[in-house]
Amino acid sequence: MPESHSNPQPADSSYGVRPHMIKLVVRPTERAHQLIRQHVAAGDHVVDATLGNGHDTLFLAELVGKKGRVDGFDIQSAAIQSAQQKLHDRDFDHVHLHHVGHEKIPDWVQTPIQAAMFNLGYLPGGDKQVITQAQTTLQALRSALDLLLPNGIVTIVAYIGHAGGSEEADAILTFCQTLKSDQFTVTQHRSASDNAKAPFLITIVRG
Ligand SMILES: C[S@@+](CC[C@H](N)C(=O)[O-])C[C@H]1O[C@@H](n2cnc3c(N)ncnc32)[C@H](O)[C@@H]1O
Repeated sequence: MPESHSNPQPADSSYGVRPHMIKLVVRPTERAHQLIRQHVAAGDHVVDATLGNGHDTLFLAELVGKKGRVDGFDIQSAAIQSAQQKLHDRDFDHVHLHHVGHEKIPDWVQTPIQAAMFNLGYLPGGDKQVITQAQTTLQALRSALDLLLPNGIVTIVAYIGHAGGSEEADAILTFCQTLKSDQFTVTQHRSASDNAKAPFLITIVRG
């Protein structure tokens, strides 16, 4: 169900003078980080299912700290290299990068996880033809949910502006409808001010 965004209250008298300075709605990637922070603590085991340029992995690595563990997956060597560069110089022995598709999660992750992040679509700055695919995304999503601990969260940022993106998002939403509501809470985070092609966030929390 869509998350509601209430109108912000004027913080001070500048409201109305420079309204363009007030950020009404956070980006789905940023919202995903906010929610992950509410469910993940130092020492937790988490998964980044789409490594990309490593922004989410870096965020997760700092959040869980050295006593935690991050497993990151991507099919492109360009993504692995880009993520490695981002983690470069950091003492991150607890981050494990896997140059394989997220559909292989069960081969690499066997212990329960507190969170998994999916940031779908193509690698920014990379080959736009290489995109996540509904079938493998769903396979990975099922694996992540099997591993998810109580109060754990899966975040999915779905992009519908590129060919295939809408179909992938629809497949995920259809799959979400099959989840038992006494086990999982599914939320679609969308703002009324988003345009029809804007990316959006889906979260699944194990209740
Ligand atoms: C939007 S990017 C991810 C951005 C990333 N989370 C970040 O913080 O920079 C999507 C990534 O998914 C990757 N991808 C596509 N199919 C995949 C699969 N089957 N398994 C894992 N990653 C995949 C692409 O190679 C691409 O790097």
